[in-house]
Amino acid sequence: MTTTTPFLTGQEIRDRFLQFYSQYKHQILPSASLVPEDPTVLLTIAGMLPFKPIFLGQKQSDFPRATTSQKCIRTNDIENVGRTARHHTFFEMLGNFSFGDYFKEQAIKWAWELSTKVYQLPPENIVVSVFENDDEAFKMWEEIIGVPPQRIKRMGEKDNFWKAGPTGPCGPCSELYYDFHPELGDDDIDLEDDSRFIEFYNLVFMEYNRDADGKLTPLQNRNIDTGMGLERMAQILQKVPNNYETDLIFPIIETAANIANINYQKATEKTKVSLKVIGDHVRSVVHMISDNITASNTDRGYVLRRLIRRVVRHGRLIGIEGKFIN
Ligand code: ALA
Repeated sequence: MTTTTPFLTGQEIRDRFLQFYSQYKHQILPSASLVPEDPTVLLTIAGMLPFKPIFLGQKQSDFPRATTSQKCIRTNDIENVGRTARHHTFFEMLGNFSFGDYFKEQAIKWAWELSTKVYQLPPENIVVSVFENDDEAFKMWEEIIGVPPQRIKRMGEKDNFWKAGPTGPCGPCSELYYDFHPELGDDDIDLEDDSRFIEFYNLVFMEYNRDADGKLTPLQNRNIDTGMGLERMAQILQKVPNNYETDLIFPIIETAANIANINYQKATEKTKVSLKVIGDHVRSVVHMISDNITASNTDRGYVLRRLIRRVVRHGRLIGIEGKFIN
């Protein structure tokens, strides 16, 4: 990365995202609760969830464009938390949304402007992916933005067709990846290689509804739903080796390390994993409780209980005893 790329705090990254889209007439809305109105999911898993009825045409939006920093919880990758550089249960998703207003070309142009002008990522450090048959998006990246074709990757349904669940609004997507090692060249680009690439911004061209049989029907409107991982952008701009060592999470890790009388930098890998699990799960637990979830044996209450138990277990593993756990 060039030395001109700024160091931005998590708060600055969040503010700059919201301000950028506000200047382009997006209404800044507060994060919705982690307890979704949508009965098909236990927890808010993406920035688009509060807008699902609008995408489905069941509700009219008060604004044609919106932008949010949405608190989210996903537990499907819980075993990877602390073990990889980027998996979390709690994260914030920065999003810009169009409800039947602008579409693909404008979303791509703004995503590029934000990434390269506001966050000042060097264009040579960005690789993009498109859905395998989305020639239109491919052409826009190549001809309007100027991304070299060898740095635009076509990917299949698993990676580049986004849906919130088995049914509901969905569509092909295009993702921006940060390349930590552009000097390795363009011949062997494997976006699954997370020692080289991190996906940081997903642009969903939300134009279909999927029914229980998997049939796609065009939605009344063509919409835009995007998600930028705040913690991932913080990792990139704070030049740290993983999301946990950003200012969004590291203070919790340091507090736990102090309680356990451990120096994080000198700790073994195993201890670091425990500290990262604690850093991640404490954020989930605090936000769930502040959204009125209580620990129980069922549904989201069980998710909370499981997260608390994991924090306690990892606390014990690193030697925390006494009043913190009794
Ligand atoms: N809804 C999309 C996602 O979660 C932006 O990645």
